[in-house]
Amino acid sequence: MSEQAVRYEIDAEGIATIWLDDPISSANTMNADYIESMETVISDLENDCGNDKAKGVVIASAKKTFFAGGDLEVLHTLTPDQAGEAFSMVEKVKNQLRRLETCGVPVVAAINGTALGGGLEIALAAHRRIAVNDRNLKLGLPEVSLGLLPGGGGITRLVRMFGIQSALMDWLLQGQQRNPEAALKKWLVDKLVDSPDQLLPAAHAWLKGNAEGPESHLQPWDRDGYKIPGGTPASPELAAILPSFPANLRKQLKGADFPAPRAIMAVAVEGAQVDFDTASRIESRYFAKLVVGHNAKDMTKAFFFDLQSIGSDDLRPASVDKFSAKRVGVLGAGMMGAGIAYACATRGVDVILKDVSAENAEQGKAYTQTLLEKKVSKGRMTEEARDEILARINATEDASSLADCDVIIEAVFENAELKGKVFAEIEEVVGADALLCSNTSTLPITDLASRTKRPADFIGMHFFSPVDKMKLVELIVGEETSPATLAHAIDVVQQIGKLPIVVNDSRGFFTSRVFGTYVLEGAAMVEEGLDPVVVDRAGTKAGFPSGPLTLLDEVTLSLPRHVAEEARKAAESEGTVAPETPGLSVLDKMVDDYGREGRAAGKGFYEYQDGARTRMWPELRTIFAPEVPAQVSAEDIADRFLFAMAIDTARCFENNVITSSAAANIGSIFGIGFPPNRGGAAQFVENYPGGMGEFVKRADVLADTYGERFRPSEWLRERAVAGQGLGS
Ligand code: NAI
Repeated sequence: MSEQAVRYEIDAEGIATIWLDDPISSANTMNADYIESMETVISDLENDCGNDKAKGVVIASAKKTFFAGGDLEVLHTLTPDQAGEAFSMVEKVKNQLRRLETCGVPVVAAINGTALGGGLEIALAAHRRIAVNDRNLKLGLPEVSLGLLPGGGGITRLVRMFGIQSALMDWLLQGQQRNPEAALKKWLVDKLVDSPDQLLPAAHAWLKGNAEGPESHLQPWDRDGYKIPGGTPASPELAAILPSFPANLRKQLKGADFPAPRAIMAVAVEGAQVDFDTASRIESRYFAKLVVGHNAKDMTKAFFFDLQSIGSDDLRPASVDKFSAKRVGVLGAGMMGAGIAYACATRGVDVILKDVSAENAEQGKAYTQTLLEKKVSKGRMTEEARDEILARINATEDASSLADCDVIIEAVFENAELKGKVFAEIEEVVGADALLCSNTSTLPITDLASRTKRPADFIGMHFFSPVDKMKLVELIVGEETSPATLAHAIDVVQQIGKLPIVVNDSRGFFTSRVFGTYVLEGAAMVEEGLDPVVVDRAGTKAGFPSGPLTLLDEVTLSLPRHVAEEARKAAESEGTVAPETPGLSVLDKMVDDYGREGRAAGKGFYEYQDGARTRMWPELRTIFAPEVPAQVSAEDIADRFLFAMAIDTARCFENNVITSSAAANIGSIFGIGFPPNRGGAAQFVENYPGGMGEFVKRADVLADTYGERFRPSEWLRERAVAGQGLGS
């Protein structure tokens, strides 16, 4: 194997091949070795072009994936005073790509596997892109989801290929990833081949046929008379709609502050008004600023490093053999049970879906049918695939049908006695080694487990609604849950394509409990007399996907009441005092006095007509109007939401409910909507601007002003002083 990350070959017919082949890693990244060896390769190519030896160039990968992108290990360590270095590094990368696309002979990218970020930017510097038509192969520029922007020429080239509007909407602002067929429809790739062995022959054939005529060695933007499709900001058509772009973006982000999409838009618009090389430098400047900034650090930590850690086997007890579920029994075919059945069946696992009546069970199965029909009608699924998945779900009212299930997931009503009864019935039927899981969102797992004969085989498996869209599953380890049970539960969650986080049993576990602090803070503000419309909007402005009052209506006002009740019971049995829960009295009043349970009941903080939300309940303002309404600044409102969750997350670490920062970050973002631009609830504390000491200071101010629930514990203070972070 060569020691070079990029290798250069040229055959007798003058076809040069640039091989992307990192000798150390299993994937190619834009690390120092890449930059250095690419420099040599481009010089060799220029020499061969100069003396007419090279007739065409193929860029190909010797790895399974084409190219993974920028080296995040390096980018993540850049500090604010290294913006200059970041600029030089990215300029070097794009200078090489610019030399490649202007080398004087046609260049074709042979895309054998996924090409994301920097990987796709390499392919964009080619004059033609040919990809293997493999549905698992992904093409895209997902930098925005890491708080970054494509700095290797991606914005500059896409704007010149598709125009500002399409480049932004189709690829850049949401970092869409598309399979080759979809990418072909969007003109990102030029040709597909059916199998990897056809790729290089197709690339060679194009080069030898020089299929596109004498200008095939020039990018469109390097040809005479080139104009950006759709016009530049100076052209009347675009000038007329341009002002709506930032407004739409603000609307899309619901007022939240995400620097990356704003920077991407600025690069696209500013870059479209100047020549290619100037545009490219503008892109580098914005990139350097973003990459050393706080937001990129937080987002890269969560969406790259933490996700990687969750996907690894770090938390799985190592000595246990891998488990693969064959048949899952789902008890309760309501909203959650139906979703869980869908998640299992679409991943090839047989499901017995049981409810109290065959009719209920069939209704649960129909949910899968509805979701699949939508896919079929959009051309995303064949009728055969739909039928195959549906055939995997067996709807029944008969408990004995669950005899062969190796996993049981219970999702009946939230009632400990009922759950105990349901498990007792099932234990009589299923094999002695079947995994017993409960989808409870609030009931203590140790207590539920004690109602079965096999508490060691029992675990909480907490899905989120809607199950088909929500990737997170919280696994709750009870006092007696065995390591084998935990390992197998992790395996099942991964088997059905979800992300497991592992937490220890406690009231409300991690997610329901921390979620409760956000929505209750919103309710507390209503009680203080803040305008409920302002309160709800402040949530999305702070970066949450929904406002606290909207969410309360969605999950029902009973959920935080249950959690608080469990906390009260737990405190009573321990002889301690439950934490204060301001806002709870608002929910009690709404439910007990006015029957306003939330959306499912047709009324909550909002009013609903035929399932659609109409307006905020007007009486809120009179029922909860103190004589002197509180005055709270927008900054304090946002911080109250964020700190309420972060302080409770810290308490979860202190009490050993959760032990890993990655789990807390992923759990809080994917499960309960902690603002993704902050990198998650643990990251918010650990990477607070100025350090954890500053976090503690700000929390003290909030505690002095708004209540002791914000007061950092001694444990947290010590951690901050020691600069230790939250996790072990
Ligand atoms: P649901 O009310 O939609 O469904 C419950 C189903 O259980 C009903 O179809 C009912 O007929 C069935 N059932 C009752 N007794 C049964 C029995 N003996 N055998 C078989 N089926 C029986 O409730 P949902 O929302 O699906 O919640 C189920 C569980 O999931 C609860 O423990 C809830 O706390 C938990 N959960 C709910 C979430 C949500 O967003 N709704 C999120 C996460 C967990």
